[in-house]
Amino acid sequence: MTMQASARSYSNIAFIKYWGNKDEGLRLPANGSISMNLNGIETVTSVNFGPALQKDTLTLNSNPAAPDQLQRVSRHLDAIRARAEVDHSAEIVSRNNFPAGAGIASSASAFSALTVAASAALKLDLEEQELSALSRLGSGSACRSIPEGYVEWIAGEDHESSYAISIAPPEHWDLVDLVAIVSREHKPIGSTTGHRLAWSSPLQQARVIDAPRRLDICRAAILARDFPVFAEIIEQDALMMHSVMLTSNPSLVYWAPPTLTMIKAVPQWRADGIPVSFTIDAGPNVHVITTSEYVPVVRQFLKDLDGISEILAAGVGGKAHLIQPAADGASL
Ligand code: PMV
Repeated sequence: MTMQASARSYSNIAFIKYWGNKDEGLRLPANGSISMNLNGIETVTSVNFGPALQKDTLTLNSNPAAPDQLQRVSRHLDAIRARAEVDHSAEIVSRNNFPAGAGIASSASAFSALTVAASAALKLDLEEQELSALSRLGSGSACRSIPEGYVEWIAGEDHESSYAISIAPPEHWDLVDLVAIVSREHKPIGSTTGHRLAWSSPLQQARVIDAPRRLDICRAAILARDFPVFAEIIEQDALMMHSVMLTSNPSLVYWAPPTLTMIKAVPQWRADGIPVSFTIDAGPNVHVITTSEYVPVVRQFLKDLDGISEILAAGVGGKAHLIQPAADGASL
C-alpha cells in the first residue's frame, strides 16, 4: 500500500489580523481573523511515509531544509501520525513558487499543504473543518488556507472549535493583492515570537476587545462588496496590529521608509477616487488591495514610488487540494 500524497495550497493575506494567542501550544488565537487566499502564490508538497525510512527528511525548494524547519515539520507530522496511529517516518518534498527572500511568509501555504498531503497519505479522510484545525497546529494562519476564497477563522475555545470557514467563494469579488516588495529587507522576528510579545504591549487588550466589531464590519463589507467600508476597516486593523508591535517590549518595528510612503499614499489615491487600500503583515512589504479593473492604474502608481523592488499580483485563490504529481516529480 502506498502512503504517498501531494497537495497544493495558496498563501493568504489577512484583512483582520491574527496577532497573539490565548493558548500558545494549541495556537488558539486571541481573536478571530478574516483573509483571502492568494491565487498562484502557492506551496506544493509531497509526503511519502515508509516503514523503511529511518527518520523524517525535508527538501525545501530543492535543498535540504534547516534543522529547525525540519523539527517544526516533524512535530506537525507527529500530530497527524498520532491521529492515524502510524509511526512511519516520512520523506517530504516541498516547493514554493514565490521568490525566496521576497518577504512573503510561507508558513500558511506550507502547513496547509503539508496537512492535506500527510493526512491523505495516511488515509485519514478528514472533513475541511478538521483539516483546518490540524493545519492551525503548524501555523495559525495556515488554517485559513484550507477553505476557498474569502475565509474567516473562528477563534474557538479548544482544538476542535478553532478552525476557518469560507465566507464567500473566489468569484464573489474580484479583489487583487498587489504585493509591493520593499527592497531593503530586515530579518524579521518570526511570528511565533511576535505572538508571544503581543501581550507585552498595553494596547493588545484593547485591540482584542475591539476585534468583534472589526470582524463584523469587514465580513459585512466583503459580503456587500462595499469597497470604501472594507478599505477603512482593513487599514485600521493593520495599523492597530502594528501599534501593538511598535509598543511591545522589545519593540517590533517592521516598517522600512517605503512602507510609510505607501501608508500615506494609498489613502490619498483612494480619496482621489481609486478603490485601493493597504494592509501590512510582520514585515516591510505592503499588500495593496484593489479590484481587477484598477490593477494597471495602481501598479503604475506603485512603480512611480521609490523603494519598491518588485510587485507580485494575486487574485482570490481556491481551497487547498490534493494533486497528482508527475511520476518524475516534475510538478514539484
Ligand atoms: O500564522 P503565523 O503564526 O505566521 O501568524 C501570522 C501573523 C500575521 O501574518 C502578521 C497576521 C495574519 O493574520 O496572517
